[in-house]
Amino acid sequence: MSSQDIPEENLPAEQDHARGAVGVADEVNPFADPGLPPHEHRIQDIDERAAKRSERAVALLFTVSMLATVGFIVSYVAIPHDKSIFVFPIGHLSALNFALGLTLGAALFCIGAGAVHWARTLMSDVEVADERHPIEAAPDVRAKVHADFRQGAAESVLGRRKLIRNTMFGALALVPLSGVMLLRDLGPLPGTSLRHTMWAKGKRLVNTNTNLPLRPEDVAVGSLTFAKPDGLEETSEDFQTEIAKAALMIVRLQPGNIKDKRELDWSHEGIVAFSKICTHVGCPISLYEQQTHHVLCPCHQSTFDLSDGARVIFGPAGHALPQLRIGVDSEGYLQALGDFEEPVGPAFWERG
Ligand code: FES
Repeated sequence: MSSQDIPEENLPAEQDHARGAVGVADEVNPFADPGLPPHEHRIQDIDERAAKRSERAVALLFTVSMLATVGFIVSYVAIPHDKSIFVFPIGHLSALNFALGLTLGAALFCIGAGAVHWARTLMSDVEVADERHPIEAAPDVRAKVHADFRQGAAESVLGRRKLIRNTMFGALALVPLSGVMLLRDLGPLPGTSLRHTMWAKGKRLVNTNTNLPLRPEDVAVGSLTFAKPDGLEETSEDFQTEIAKAALMIVRLQPGNIKDKRELDWSHEGIVAFSKICTHVGCPISLYEQQTHHVLCPCHQSTFDLSDGARVIFGPAGHALPQLRIGVDSEGYLQALGDFEEPVGPAFWERG
């Protein structure tokens, strides 16, 4: 139902003060002021039943908000923090976080939606027009600005010194190109380079400190050894890029202490090799607790259990440290039996 369908006598008095006068074009003002379009009355202004319906809708939204807030409090108290649920299409997530987010979101949304619906349907519908004032400066101000500009141009001698003027315009035109050229540093995209490291079948494990290939007997129980791939020298141009992905932690455990079957299969006489790059935001891990076989990342204290597949037992890291499968070559040196089977370091958006 529109205001055109309402009997004339039911309509509220026209808000004449809100209607801008229609202007007429003349020589001074070549663009005529079109004025405001005719005022459209809302159905709630002319039909009390519609107004009541809007009132009930607003009250319903505020009531839903109250219920959602109660739901938030109940969720906080009642849902165990370690319970997880499957939500399509997101996957598994914490039931507590999901409930808190959902209820708080609903509570805030309903307050906002109720306020908007209230303002659009029931609050005053008076249109107010503010006449524009002229934006041009007074004639004497304009004359002064012109005079100042002419004086400045004369004093700069730009008119006479054409060589300076032309080279200055050339310099000003070219200087933004420096910023444009820097955009080139945004690429190229990493492609699949983050998924692979220098490790490959037959690549020896070299002690990062001594630069010597490691033998099993070099790795004592309880010690933490850092290793890099054979052939990666600190003088190489891509050393930083490659070591940031390939750095290894090597630990010897008693085989009987290794709980994870795959970890045991990928080890050699209890020697296990894990990525040294934390899976939270990529700090190098360096603290080893010999008794518990835990390694600790110094940045945000993520803790990984090296005797159980390097799974996360504390902290913000999202997944276990990737393990490198190792063995010994014909000369008795420790060697990799392939690359990591998953990307090392923190999760990234295209990891898939
Ligand atoms: S980078 Fe290791 S816990 Fe944050």
